[in-house]
Amino acid sequence: MEIKQSEFVISAVKPQQYPTDNRIEFAFVGRSNVGKSSLINTLTNRKKLVKVSGTPGKTRLINFFLINNEFYFVDLPGYGYAKVSKKEKDSWGKMMEKYLIDRPQLKKIVLLVDSRHKPTNDDVIMYNWVKHYGYKVIIVATKRDKLTNNEAAKSKKLIRETLKMDKEESIVFFSSLKKEGKENLLEELSKNIEWE
Ligand code: GTP
Ligand code: MG
Repeated sequence: MEIKQSEFVISAVKPQQYPTDNRIEFAFVGRSNVGKSSLINTLTNRKKLVKVSGTPGKTRLINFFLINNEFYFVDLPGYGYAKVSKKEKDSWGKMMEKYLIDRPQLKKIVLLVDSRHKPTNDDVIMYNWVKHYGYKVIIVATKRDKLTNNEAAKSKKLIRETLKMDKEESIVFFSSLKKEGKENLLEELSKNIEWE
């Protein structure tokens, strides 16, 4: 799969704002600051399609990007940011639930974890949540450039064990800085997809 075209469509707060054209969707989720927005920019060869910032918790809405006029990338708001109030956490949960509960066009969810650390409790909960809803999941280990090969091998094992991943599920190591893992991830995304 090659990405030739990408455009921002909408930042949705509620389901009435989601696209209604039934194109396939791939969603990206993970802890705040894990590198979701950077990854989408890297995949689409764009510098500023998605806002990246040093301030965690930047992405608070569900952002839809139309790719190749064919499918959507969906940037979901990050979790696990300490400076969020209980009220904001609740509204995050409700927003995510409304999206995940009934979205047949959503074909795969990419769950990003930081390759430098053991997946957090929130990561484990998110992984189980996604599976509970019946979605296919791809794990992406971000910021690969910060690790040596040896550390990356250890990280892979730790991620598999901590999330209790199924054998057939893939981990893709990714670096937005070095643009590594791009082809691999695009291949994982398009695997077993029936384009209408
Ligand atoms: P929220 O929108 O707050 O949930 O964050 P996010 O998951 O979208 O993360 P974002 O892409 O904004 O990146 C967070 C920080 O990590 C930024 O300072 C990025 O420059 C940095 N970053 C992202 N990807 C990489 C990477 O591959 N390598 C390195 N070294 N830094 C990265
Ligand atoms: Mg973001």
